[in-house]
Amino acid sequence: MVSKRLTEIPASGTIAISNLVSQMKAEGIDIVSFSMGEPDFTTPANVIDACCDSLREGFTHYTPSTGIPELRKAVADQTRNVNGVPCQASNVLITPCKQAIFLTALAYIDPGDEVLLPDPCWVSYEACIRLAGGVPVYVPTFFEDGFVIDPAKIEAAITPRTKMLILNTPSNPTGCVIPSDILKQIAGICMEHGIKVLSDEIYESIVYEGRHTSIASFPGMFDNTIIVSGLSKSHAMTGWRLGWAVAPEDDIKAINKLQSHSISCAVSFVQKASVEAICGRQDAKDDMVKEFRRRRDLALDLISEIPQLECNVPNGAFYLVPRYSMDVPSAKLAETLLTDAHVAVTPGSAFGPGGEGFFRISYAASEEQIREGISRIKNCLSQF
Ligand SMILES: Cc1ncc(COP(=O)(O)O)c(C=O)c1O
Repeated sequence: MVSKRLTEIPASGTIAISNLVSQMKAEGIDIVSFSMGEPDFTTPANVIDACCDSLREGFTHYTPSTGIPELRKAVADQTRNVNGVPCQASNVLITPCKQAIFLTALAYIDPGDEVLLPDPCWVSYEACIRLAGGVPVYVPTFFEDGFVIDPAKIEAAITPRTKMLILNTPSNPTGCVIPSDILKQIAGICMEHGIKVLSDEIYESIVYEGRHTSIASFPGMFDNTIIVSGLSKSHAMTGWRLGWAVAPEDDIKAINKLQSHSISCAVSFVQKASVEAICGRQDAKDDMVKEFRRRRDLALDLISEIPQLECNVPNGAFYLVPRYSMDVPSAKLAETLLTDAHVAVTPGSAFGPGGEGFFRISYAASEEQIREGISRIKNCLSQF
């Protein structure tokens, strides 16, 4: 008998699609998959070499639970120098990004605490909040606004039970990059009401115009923020499971208590390789962002020829969320696209109530797949 806590968590909508995709592929069906939440590139060679060197040197044991000092310093230097966040190595905990979110939820949310989060948003926030006993409170964002969250709507959703706000810029699934002036307003509201921000910046390096802003860079706001990020998306390292939390020292101590009782530490030789990922040459990462931008523009061009779809031009991450005009639930539409057109997309409903009427395309796919997949979508939608 599983716990009551677990039975209250809905199954992941993204996993349901990927299970079906695997089954169909195993049956020999030619599927174009736009459901991947990861870069389709390989990890840069210098990072792989650093990992192999570290393994051969025998760096295969436990590390301090907060992470090896040189990696904590590298993360702090990058977060301070690139994003303007006033942090030091002692403000960093090395842990997979998803784990950082999960541990933060467990460390700060008490039963009944309300947590504000944008709608639509990444699938696992709600599950983390609920597992900790909290109550997710969605703040709607709108296609017409490019899915930029409205600070006034955040303020309107605050109650005496509000404990935390989760932000994700650039966003999965919308690709929305929250402009700096909006983040500044949100920072003011959160400081005024004493609300902690969990700022998920995992797509921080995949921004096409302008630059990423961390909410923790505004004066006084770092004291109120837990940043989570990592190398999964920036360096095509999803399988390495390496990320971090950057936060005031007391928060790092609290989260580290949970880390030390759960995974103990991040993988030792991966931590060594990650120092190289952050401090070594960045040409592979820069090329990847250029290629994502080319693919985004190609996918947007092709989608603009489909009369049933309209799409924003997202400024970051590697996702598009077209809005469709047909009167059909997004889960049903995704199922039809998969079974009839053999294209895997993620239904918008997987990302919260505000995702209904949309589906997510990940353009972390080859140009050939983008052309073929969107052509299949066009044919399939013409039959509705
Ligand atoms: C918005 C967002 N946050 C966190 C994560 C988790 O990242 P990681 O796989 O590095 O733990 C993902 C992964 O898809 C994501 O899209």
